[in-house]
Amino acid sequence: MHKHTQYQEPELAEFTVFDIPDAATTGMLNELLRQQLSPNLPSQQTQSNDDVERSDKTLMSCAVDAIDELLTNPYFEREQVHSKLSELFHQQKRIYLETPIEEELRKRQFITHCGLVMSPDNCITTQLDDIRVRAFVRGIHAALQQKINTENSNIHVVYPACGPFAPLLMPLIGFYKHHQIFSATQLQITLIDMQPGAVQSLSALIEEMDISEYIQDVLCMDATQYDNGTNTIDLVILEAMQHGFSREGQLSIARHFSKQLNVNGSFIPQKIIVSAHLTNLQQEFGDQWCDSEFVSESDMKINMAQDRIVLGDILTVTAEKLRNMKEVVLDESTTLIECGTVQIPFLSENEEKSIILSTKVQTWDNEWIGEYDSGITHPLPDQNICINFKPKEDKPGDLLLKSGDGLKFYYRMNGLPGFLPTWIAGDI
Ligand SMILES: C[S@@+](CC[C@H](N)C(=O)[O-])C[C@H]1O[C@@H](n2cnc3c(N)ncnc32)[C@H](O)[C@@H]1O
Repeated sequence: MHKHTQYQEPELAEFTVFDIPDAATTGMLNELLRQQLSPNLPSQQTQSNDDVERSDKTLMSCAVDAIDELLTNPYFEREQVHSKLSELFHQQKRIYLETPIEEELRKRQFITHCGLVMSPDNCITTQLDDIRVRAFVRGIHAALQQKINTENSNIHVVYPACGPFAPLLMPLIGFYKHHQIFSATQLQITLIDMQPGAVQSLSALIEEMDISEYIQDVLCMDATQYDNGTNTIDLVILEAMQHGFSREGQLSIARHFSKQLNVNGSFIPQKIIVSAHLTNLQQEFGDQWCDSEFVSESDMKINMAQDRIVLGDILTVTAEKLRNMKEVVLDESTTLIECGTVQIPFLSENEEKSIILSTKVQTWDNEWIGEYDSGITHPLPDQNICINFKPKEDKPGDLLLKSGDGLKFYYRMNGLPGFLPTWIAGDI
C-alpha cells in the first residue's frame, strides 16, 4: 500500500450543476451526472484497485486501448468508452497520488485577472467526461492528420491550461508513439498550466509514458503571458471553460493565442456557440430526466425541446471572431465584450419561463459536443432575470423584464468571467 491511501475522492466541482437554488429540482439530474462521471467501480471492471498496481496494464497500454476505442469504433458505445476511460483514469490517478506533490499544491484554488484557476484535485476527473473526451480526441486526430499530411510536416501544438493530466492530448500522443503514426519530428507539443501541482503531475505522466521526445516544454505560467511570437503556432488546444461559458478564463486565453496562430493555424475547439433560451426550470432540470439512464443531448425529451423558446445566439467564438471582438473598457480592471441582443417574446399568463444559456462546442468538423453532453455544455440558468413577475424578495442584481423588452448581453472578462445581461428597449 502506498502512503496516499487516505486520499479522499475530490469533489466533481467542474461538473456539478448547483447554480439553481432549488436542490429538489436538480437532485435527480445531479445524481445521474455523478453516476456518469464516476469511474467504473472495480466490481464493474475485470480488476480491483489493488490489482491495478499488480496487473500488466500500464498507463501506456490503457491510453492506447482507450484511444483505439475512441478513434476506430465509429459508434459511440457509451459503457464501453466509459470502461476504457475509467481504466485510464485509474492509472493516471495512481501516478498523480504517487508523485510527491505537496498537499497544499494539490488543493490550491484561486482567481486571477481573467478567471478561476481550479485546484489540481478538482481537475483530474475530466478524463471520465466521455462525450467531451471523445469529441476532442477525434477532432484533434483529424486536425493533426490534415495538418501533418497535407499542410506541413512539422507541427507545433500548444495546450494552455491543460490541467494535471492534459487529458485531451496526452493519451493520443501515447497512441501515436505506440503505433508509430506520427513521430516527434512531425509533432512538438508545449503544455502550459499555472498550477505547480499540475506541472509536477504532467512531468510524472510524461516520464511514465516515455513520450518526452514529443514534448517541447512543460511551462508553469499564466497562459496569457506566453509569447511564442506572432503567427507561429499551428494548433492551439484549449478547454478552460465551465457551463454557461462562465468562471474560467477560456475567452481571455483564446484571445491571447489568436494572435500567435500562423496563417494556416487553428483552434480546437473550432467553434463555440452560446445561445439563450426560455424554459420552465422544473421541467428542464427535473422532470425530463426522471426516467433517464444517461444525461446527454440525445437523451433530452422531445416535448422539452418543443416547449423551449429559442431567443438566439449571444456569442460565437472562432479564431477569426476572437481577433475582432468589440471591447468596452469601463476602467483599468473592468473590460466587457459586446455580445448579442435578443428579445423577450409574448408569453401567455400561465407560462412560467426563465432564461438558460446553452453551449454547443464544435471541436473539429463533424465532432460536436451538444448541450447536456458534458459538464462544459450543460445549460446554465440565470435566475436574476425575472420575466413578467416581481420576485417576493429583491435579490441584488435582479433584472425585471416583460414581454417585448430587449436583452443585450455583454461578457465580463475580469474576476469570474460570465455574461452580463442588460435591458434595452424592444421593438414589439
Ligand atoms: C478545468 S482544468 C482544465 C484542464 C484540461 N483542459 C481538461 O480538460 O481537463 C483548468 C486548468 O487550467 C489551468 N488554468 C486556468 N487558468 C489558467 C491560466 N490563465 N494559465 C495557465 N493555466 C490556467 C488550471 O490551473 C487548471 O489546471
